[in-house]
Amino acid sequence: MGNVFVFDHPLIQHKLTYIRDKNTGTKEFRELVDEVAMLMAFEITRDLPLTDVEVETPVMKAESKKLAGKKIGLVPILRAGLGMVDGVRKLIPAAKVGHVGLYRDPKTLKPVEYYVKLPSDIEERELIVIDPMLATGGSANDAIYALKKRGAKNIRLMCLVAAPEGVEVIKNEHPDVDIYLAAMDEKLDEHGYIVPGLGDAGDRLFGTK
Ligand code: PRP
Ligand code: URA
Repeated sequence: MGNVFVFDHPLIQHKLTYIRDKNTGTKEFRELVDEVAMLMAFEITRDLPLTDVEVETPVMKAESKKLAGKKIGLVPILRAGLGMVDGVRKLIPAAKVGHVGLYRDPKTLKPVEYYVKLPSDIEERELIVIDPMLATGGSANDAIYALKKRGAKNIRLMCLVAAPEGVEVIKNEHPDVDIYLAAMDEKLDEHGYIVPGLGDAGDRLFGTK
């Protein structure tokens, strides 16, 4: 069964409060999501393998460490996932970025796929699927299947806020996928919105409401 990690870092929790606040406007919302994504990337990459290297400092030769060359791929789920990509890329600038376009039909709450464009070598990469919201889990579930269908083997899921319902779906459908969150919320409402949540992430990021 996949693991679920909720990051309790004070900076993440502090910024998330302002992200949740309905009085936070689009510009500030976008900046905060970017910052939290960067902080989450710091935590998510904690287990990346290192290799020993020698470095010549101005003083002497020294033993040191470098990342062992594990290739990373970021896969934001359009649209709202885009809001977290730049923050993660500040820490992992060499990561390639694929895109999965899905929107949730407001009546059925089922995801509808409209776009998939991925790096050609996804099977060799550690992929991080990125979406601020894990609600019913339908979108992340479909996105992960879309990646697996195309050969992906190592996948992690990174979201700001999740409902228990969505986490259960991913744990059952994809026990190989670890989930990284800034918060696990209470439940879904009758419209499939996360409670207390932060509202519609895409609309708040892009000012479309
Ligand atoms: C939101 C969100 C997730 C999805 C979560 O996207 O960004 O992708 O809903 O809901 P689920 O877990 O029930 O599938 P939305 O469909 O609103 O599209 P958008 O990002 O284009 O606004
Ligand atoms: N999508 C959102 O943007 N917010 C929710 O609460 C649920 C799905």
